[in-house]
Formats: sequence, structure tokens, C-alpha cells
Amino acid sequence: MSEDENTGDTLGGRSLLFVTGKGGVGKSAVAAALARASAAQGRRTLVCELATHGALGPLLGLRDEVGHAPREVAPNLWACNIDQDRAFGDAIAGLVPAPRLARALLGNPVARLFLRTAPAVTETSVHLLLTGFLRDGFDPVIVDLPATGHAVGFLDASRAMAHALRVGRVAKAVAEAAETVRDPRRTGLVLVTLPEELPVNEAIELYEKSRETLKITPAVVVVNRVNAPPVAEADLAGLEPLLDAPPHTLPPAARAVAGTVREGVRAAAQDSRHVARLGEALPGARLLELPTLRDSADEPALVARLAESLRDLLGGGPPRVPAR
Ligand SMILES: Nc1ncnc2c1ncn2[C@@H]1O[C@H](COP(=O)(O)OP(=O)(O)OP(=O)(O)O)[C@@H](O)[C@H]1O
Ligand SMILES: [Mg+2]
Repeated sequence: MSEDENTGDTLGGRSLLFVTGKGGVGKSAVAAALARASAAQGRRTLVCELATHGALGPLLGLRDEVGHAPREVAPNLWACNIDQDRAFGDAIAGLVPAPRLARALLGNPVARLFLRTAPAVTETSVHLLLTGFLRDGFDPVIVDLPATGHAVGFLDASRAMAHALRVGRVAKAVAEAAETVRDPRRTGLVLVTLPEELPVNEAIELYEKSRETLKITPAVVVVNRVNAPPVAEADLAGLEPLLDAPPHTLPPAARAVAGTVREGVRAAAQDSRHVARLGEALPGARLLELPTLRDSADEPALVARLAESLRDLLGGGPPRVPAR
């Protein structure tokens, strides 16, 4: 499959979705919302985070911690927080043919340290785990990746490792994982950003780097927390007498309304300039705007609302598998 065939239409047909972007832009919220939307379509969905502080639990409204092993948290929805050290142990145990040798390797602190600190070993272990989840029948597997800086290195790890290993059983397993992670029919990269200067710059940089280094075209760039205009364009003209009036000539209540509307119009115009800049820098990229949701009761309510906006991205349609 050539890079050109990665048209980035929707995420619907893809089984492995990676969500990344600058710190704090809403990666975890988007990953959780995609997972909710996918589960609601009846897909056997697994959402994973990578040894992070446990963002998914609160977003999914769970009381208990999400652990290393996938746990069913709602109908059609499983979650896990991958412990990279355990992923590494699992990979060694699965790939070294003799259990005694695997145990010896894992039990020897020096060998373990050497293996773990070799470039790309930990990340490759995670790729093996993720592709194992696909084989277990999860579809999609949604991964809340760490912030942008690490994303390209993470996604490139198994390819680099397969190249280094070349022959043997381990090389074959790693090459298969690398192929899946980079297959645009199966994998979709979801880049999250905010309508702000630095996050937009970083999104443009990562989009281009991903195409050049990984030969992966991000399937979609999600612009999160976009402010909608407080009133429709058509109604704005009618409000001009209020908005243009010198504040001291207005009664206090009208002054407050005028101030809020003016500020809302300014914020929406600024956001749309950033979205336009992103579109111009990345012609051909699929952009999806998500609104700023200020009045959600809690994190799960926010996620449920974001899931509504992400439904079309997943292709919609009737449930593909019954709830289990
Ligand atoms: N569309 C939105 N409207 C309002 N609040 C939002 C929206 N998206 C995310 N948030 C809030 O912004 C905060 C940061 O979101 P989130 O934790 O998903 O970011 P992140 O990119 O995963 O951060 P980190 O880099 O720390 O992992 C959270 O409190 C979340 O509830
Ligand atoms: Mg996060």
C-alpha cells in the first residue's frame, strides 16, 4: 500500500487508532470520546493509555484504577493503562523460544537493563502488545499516546527494530507488528490541537514529520475547544446598536451582555483564524472542529458530548457486533 492510498477519509474501517498532540490539548478526552462513540456503535472497543497518570478512568467515569490488563468497563468497552515494563516482560516471554531462557533474561538485572534501555525496545514491546490486542478481536484499539515530542519515535520503533533484527523468529514478529502499525488501511493517526498559536505550529510540524518520517498521513486533525460565535452572523447586525454603544450609556445588565457578546465574537474570530491557518498549511488534511464545552457537569458528561461530535468520523452505521 502506498502512502497516497491513505486518503484519511474516516476512521471507520481502521482498527488501530493513535491519538496524539501537544500536552494538554485534549488527547485523552478525544481518545475516551472516540472509544465511547465506537462502543456505542457496537464495536468491541479497547482504549489504552501508556503508563500515564491514569487520565482515562476519570474521563470514563470509573471508580477503580485502570490496570495493565484490559478490563470491561461498559458494554463493548474495555480499557487498560499499559505498564511498559510488563509489556516488555510479556514480549520477551512470548518471543524467546525457551521459557527458561526467557526467565533467565528477565531475572538477570543486567540483561534486563541492557535490553530495556536499548533504543526502541520498550516501544516495540508495546507495538507487540497492541497488535496482540487486535488478534484478540478488539476493533478498534484506541491508544492515547504521550505528547507530540515522543509520537514519531514511538510509532517508528518497531520498523527500526525490525530493520535492525532482520532474520529470525523475533524479527518476524516485530516486522509483522511494524507492518500493522504503519498500514494506512488498519492504522489511523488522530492529531489533536487547539486553535492557538503554539499548538497549531506543533500540529503542522507533526503532520509533516509523520508524512516524511513515518510515511503516515494523519487521518484527521481534530481542532479541540473551538469557540463558536455567541450569536449567528445574521443576528449580529441587529445587535450593533448595543455592541457599538459606549458602555457608560448602557444600563448595567445590557453592558454585561454587550461585553460578553463582544468577547465571544472576538474569541470565535481568533479561533477561526487559527483553523484557517492550519487548513492553509496542510492542504488536503481533514480537519474536524470540536466545540469548547464549558458547562458539562463532569468529565464523563464532557466525553459523552464529544463522542456525539466524533460519531461521523467513525463512519456511523448499525452495530457490527452484538454487545458481549
Ligand atoms: N472540548 C472541550 N471543552 C472543554 N473542556 C475540554 C475539552 N476537551 C478537553 N477539555 C478539558 O481539558 C483538560 C485537558 O484535557 P486532556 O486531559 O484530555 O488533555 P491531554 O492532551 O490528554 O493532556 P496531557 O498532555 O496532560 O495528557 C481536561 O480537563 C478536559 O476535561
Ligand atoms: Mg492525556
